[in-house]
Amino acid sequence: MASPPTKQQAVLPSRQQLFDFHGVSMIPIFTDNWENVQNFQARPDDILIATYPKAGTTWVSQILDLLYFGQTERQKTIPIFERVPFLEIAVPSLVSGKDLADKLTTTPRLIKTHFPVQFVPKSFWEQNCKIVYVARNAKDNMVSFFHFDRMNMAHPDPGDWSNYIHRFKEGKMVFGSWYDHVNGWWKKKQTYSNIHYMFYEDMIEDTEREIDKLCSFLSLSRSAEEKKMIAGGVQFDNMKKNEMTNYSTFSILDFKISPFMRKGKVGDWKNHFTVAQNEVFDEDYKKKMKDPTLQFRTEI
Ligand code: PPS
Repeated sequence: MASPPTKQQAVLPSRQQLFDFHGVSMIPIFTDNWENVQNFQARPDDILIATYPKAGTTWVSQILDLLYFGQTERQKTIPIFERVPFLEIAVPSLVSGKDLADKLTTTPRLIKTHFPVQFVPKSFWEQNCKIVYVARNAKDNMVSFFHFDRMNMAHPDPGDWSNYIHRFKEGKMVFGSWYDHVNGWWKKKQTYSNIHYMFYEDMIEDTEREIDKLCSFLSLSRSAEEKKMIAGGVQFDNMKKNEMTNYSTFSILDFKISPFMRKGKVGDWKNHFTVAQNEVFDEDYKKKMKDPTLQFRTEI
């Protein structure tokens, strides 16, 4: 029997502060390893999972891991953040994401990033790697990020909700502006055909359909039965109780404040925005989201 997971012990300073990094708000744990990360050597069969934080990264990571490697011992004993390393993370005293990625022995290697498109190391483009981008509607994404910032001891304190909405609109968030992120990646898709751009809301609506699309993009043939099994296995309640996917073994998160697998829904923003906040937000949103080809659903 596998021994129970031990918490990775990190020595963290107090909550980090945002600073401007090449025009994007960042914190040091995601920029300190910049040179090494930029020099990362991607391989042609690497798969990059790119998202703005809290858009469904862990969900898609688990799906891809199951599609490629099945329900094996590795699934039961290795936490998701080691099976799918977070490329740019460098928390003092923990192995960096870049080093974890270099040490992966799987083919393909599944690698996670929250970088805006312009920060992606050039070897991913040179090697023509497949990239899965997941986007989530701004309001639910912000709510999820708010609760995550509360419980992630490395992130800046989110402060109160009304101020947080202001910060979100201004792009004063870890990894910068949601608007720039989703639009930047959307634009890239027009010139780089190896991006599969998907939406959290679609995955909630029909996980099996989205797995089908992933299989087409990745040229994977899996039986209908396998796909059904995977779709069932990655439903929110299953991933929430699974210690290898729920981040309970990652020590910089304080689960007493909020769980990582929090609600897993579309429309939780309605429990957070006042009517007035919602109106002001929508007005501002219209000004920032000018591309009619990129549409999000805030309810399904
Ligand atoms: S991170 O820290 O950026 O990697 O977080 P990320 O995994 O992108 O996003 C976390 C949110 O995704 C929800 N989640 C899911 N929803 C539905 N089904 C499944 N299986 C699932 N797995 C993760 C998670 O609950 C977070 O959203 P909220 O709204 O906070 O619940």
